[in-house]
Amino acid sequence: KGCKLIGCGSAVPSLKISNDDLSKVVDTNDEWISVRTGIRNRRVISGKESLTTLAVKAAHKALEMAQVDVDDVDLILVCTSTPDDIFGCAPKVQKALGCARNPLAYDITAACSGFILGLVSAYCHIKAGGFKNVLVIGADALSRIVDWTDRGTCILFGDAAGAVLIQACDGEDDGLLSFDVHSDGEGYRHLNAALKENETDDELGSNGSVLGFPPRQASYSCLQMNGKEVFRFAVRVVPQSIEYSLAKAGLSASSIDWLLLHQANQRILDAVSTRLQIPSEQVISNLANYGNTSAGSIPLALDEAVRSGKVKPGHTIAAAGFGAGLTWASTIFRW
Ligand code: ACO
Repeated sequence: KGCKLIGCGSAVPSLKISNDDLSKVVDTNDEWISVRTGIRNRRVISGKESLTTLAVKAAHKALEMAQVDVDDVDLILVCTSTPDDIFGCAPKVQKALGCARNPLAYDITAACSGFILGLVSAYCHIKAGGFKNVLVIGADALSRIVDWTDRGTCILFGDAAGAVLIQACDGEDDGLLSFDVHSDGEGYRHLNAALKENETDDELGSNGSVLGFPPRQASYSCLQMNGKEVFRFAVRVVPQSIEYSLAKAGLSASSIDWLLLHQANQRILDAVSTRLQIPSEQVISNLANYGNTSAGSIPLALDEAVRSGKVKPGHTIAAAGFGAGLTWASTIFRW
């Protein structure tokens, strides 16, 4: 069995926040943000919007493009680090989509590498498990875990969801040509949103102390990042990983149509494409409009590039995600 990517979709919140808007709440300005990051606007969930509503919108669009009925989906992977429920967002998405046959639905947590790991997982499920139609959804609302008083981080992120439908097909001609996946827990200290240590909660957890363990309610810190270290990490590992995936696929950088990276920062996109000698016209970038949307960024950028006619059927794409964990992952796929 092979597999092919046959549909994509995306959804962003309605509330738009510009760099000028941010300069009213933290000591920053449009010039600093756009020169250092390339970001001009971001979208943030508000009102009745949730990660589930965004993910469902993106999934419907992907199913419509793929011409696959929702009842024929047999696996839903929701790649997210900011789920609506800590036990998992995917079953909520499955319910909201109205899948009649209770397909397996679970979350993948790998920050900004999540979507690529979702693609790889879909591929492995199809190869090993006989699944036919897999929805891979990348969705995040980092606005939920960002410290909105920290100018070093709050200017970078936005919320979004994107989805891809991967379908099993006969024959060996895989749409997913190769992949390369890694983690390095040593680098965890550079980027995390960790459980707070030594927190006690007298009211809710007091029985714990009676029973002999420290009462403790889970409470998480806001996203903490050493921007310089993350930058260095990304420009070091991403080109290496893509080169490895290209070699595994028997390709070179000059034979791909598009470079599609996690949309973290325009300077990271520029540094990676320069190192790989891929011209800027072949680099997909939409981060000016949305900022870093974590697991949502790659499928959102893919969807825009497909719908605008940039990415055409048969095109070969080198994609890579990188971020907290630290994690990084690349894949070469054919649209
Ligand atoms: N506006 C104005 N000034 C600012 C701002 C801001 N928003 N933020 C920081 N500054 C100031 C700092 O205080 C510092 O001032 P000082 O020189 O007086 O001390 C100066 O600007 C430089 O700050 P640095 O943090 O050194 O700036 P740097 O050039 O490293 O740029 C940035 C910061 C844009 C975050 C960069 O490090 C970066 O892009 N790193 C990669 C981050 C990234 O992409 N993370 C996402 C990973 S994906 C994931 O998993 C979430």
